[in-house]
Amino acid sequence: MLWLLKYIRPLTYAGVVVFGIAIVLYAKIQTSIPIQQQGLLIKYFANTSVLFLYFTLLASPLYATFPKLPLRAVYIKARKALGVSAFFFGLFHALMAFFISIGGFSGLANITGIYLTSIILGAISLFILTILAITSLKYCIKKLGKYWKPLHRMAYIAGILILIHATIMGSDMLTLFNISSWGLMILFIMETIRCWKYLKIRKTQTQNIDLK
Ligand code: HEM
Repeated sequence: MLWLLKYIRPLTYAGVVVFGIAIVLYAKIQTSIPIQQQGLLIKYFANTSVLFLYFTLLASPLYATFPKLPLRAVYIKARKALGVSAFFFGLFHALMAFFISIGGFSGLANITGIYLTSIILGAISLFILTILAITSLKYCIKKLGKYWKPLHRMAYIAGILILIHATIMGSDMLTLFNISSWGLMILFIMETIRCWKYLKIRKTQTQNIDLK
């Protein structure tokens, strides 16, 4: 098991690269028209980024809810690679969507209303994912010290903004019968359990201090 812990990050990155190649090949098989392939890739990259972000956010609430679940250290170590991968797929999606679907800066000038709001939300979430990817370097973790954890909680804000962005853009991610909305519900429930456990520990600690 120690070897898995040692190599989980390179293994995760290798798996992500293979997954990325598979996505590109799948889009190529679906259609031979380049513009349609690009349209598919924009969607696939976006949804892959959401998937990786989901599994990045899932680690802590999962083990807080089920502390006896195996492979905790392995999952926690793989989490960083998943978060960085979420950033890269979000970046590929954003670049392709901006220059191909929107038509670059000239196309952006014609977008107004709710779609402009959606693109601004997408850009803000990409900005957050960029900051989180950069600050996941060892050097930044050391430099940021106690500020690293609160900073990385911004991943939740990115997640919420991405959901709003995707819904405005017509994704059915949040519809009741979609598996992703069930996944989100599970994450929400486990996150609530984690907060409740945390508050309970804090309360006991405060009571112990009061008794002393
Ligand atoms: C400047 C940044 C961004 C721009 C300009 C942008 C643009 C777009 C556009 C044009 C679409 C519609 C695509 C289509 O239906 O063909 C879209 C959908 C979407 N975007 Fe973004 N986006 C940005 C950032 C992000 C980021 C960082 C994420 C993170 C994962 C994201 C996730 C999504 C998702 C999940 C969809 C729905 C895909 C689907 O319909 O299956 N976007 N975005």
